[in-house]
Amino acid sequence: MIVVGMISGTSMDGLDVAVADLSGAQTGDLVLRPLQARTWRWPESLRERLLALLPPSSTTVAEVAQLDELVGRSCAAAATAVVADVGGADLVVSHGQTVFHWVTDGRAEGTLQLGQPAPIVQATGLPVVSDLRARDIAAGGQGAPLAGTLDTLLLRGFGGPGTRAALNLGGIANVTVVPADGEPVAFDTGPANCLIDAAVTRITRGEASYDAGGAIAAAGTVREDLLDLLLAKPYYDLPAPKSTGRELFTTAYVEPYVAKVAPVADADLVATLVELTARTVGRALAPYDVDRLVVSGGGVHNPVLMAALERALGRVEVKTSDAVGLPADDKEAYLMALIGYLTWHQVPGVLPGMTGADQPRVLGRISLGDNPVHLPEPGVSPRTLTIGPPPVE
Ligand SMILES: Nc1ncnc2c1ncn2[C@@H]1O[C@H](COP(=O)(O)OP(=O)(O)O)[C@@H](O)[C@H]1O
Ligand SMILES: [Mg+2]
Repeated sequence: MIVVGMISGTSMDGLDVAVADLSGAQTGDLVLRPLQARTWRWPESLRERLLALLPPSSTTVAEVAQLDELVGRSCAAAATAVVADVGGADLVVSHGQTVFHWVTDGRAEGTLQLGQPAPIVQATGLPVVSDLRARDIAAGGQGAPLAGTLDTLLLRGFGGPGTRAALNLGGIANVTVVPADGEPVAFDTGPANCLIDAAVTRITRGEASYDAGGAIAAAGTVREDLLDLLLAKPYYDLPAPKSTGRELFTTAYVEPYVAKVAPVADADLVATLVELTARTVGRALAPYDVDRLVVSGGGVHNPVLMAALERALGRVEVKTSDAVGLPADDKEAYLMALIGYLTWHQVPGVLPGMTGADQPRVLGRISLGDNPVHLPEPGVSPRTLTIGPPPVE
């Protein structure tokens, strides 16, 4: 089955799209053959409007309604282009843009992703799976991170014995840990790039939206006094399962501490925020005694962050997710394709215990396409995943 997976992460930098040929739902031995992956930058005005939704700003219902439709239309244009490129598809899976992840006292109560599926159905004629997090939250789960299902399958086959983990460095950082024996766990550790991006945008007065190649951070020095204050945030010590969004990691978190310490140079601030990401990931993984880690997400392109991470992790062997067959920039879009494929086969998209849901649930809702739908016989819970060879150019 040819499945298009699409997601815009918390960085709000653009839409990641991947097309996969998926099979094996009936046996549980899945095969994912990557066909194509690319990223559409959000149009600048759309990105600015999405970022402007973030707390502590307020917004209007009109703005939310318009962005819901505009994100849906952008997703529709991207889906149409890739479907034409690969010569047709069977299903589109659209995560949309998270704009609010509602967590109270460690419990996820709701989550909102913008991006209406209807324009995608209209443009492609295909059925669309969307709203992938709500069902898990309704079942008492965190609704995030969802990466655990794909990560667990990918990591099972990775290297020799020992504890393996996956880390995604998007706007927020999330990990999946697969112990040598015992159940896998997955949770958000805190910020990855979101605070760095916000600082760089302010420092460059909007000229840059991220620290390309880590150049600014490389010119700065970590301010341990500021870092200590930032590390006191209670979220970092909460037990798993836990999830968060950009609500908790805004300039309103950093600025009061910057005001408390001696003046902080711009580059030092960026260097400190990079170190904050590395240390909080290191602290989150420490109890698990990880042997090997695969990293994905845009953060892999920041060498200062990757070096800080290696220092914070000590003896852990660090590779990018390319080592398990999925390029670091594309893994999350393939994850969406996988989850939607499972939904189509009425198989839960999360593993037991992972998000804290009462039991694993089939994720998302299906918008019907132009042709009558005949859902396949329900599949079985996936046991193995093989990444098939990409198509020959
Ligand atoms: N060349 C680069 N140098 C430094 N950071 C980068 C680079 N490319 C991407 N990034 C970082 O990665 C982020 C995007 O990562 P991504 O995985 O797309 O996150 P999300 O899933 O939240 O959209 C950017 O906002 C930026 O902080
Ligand atoms: Mg992105």
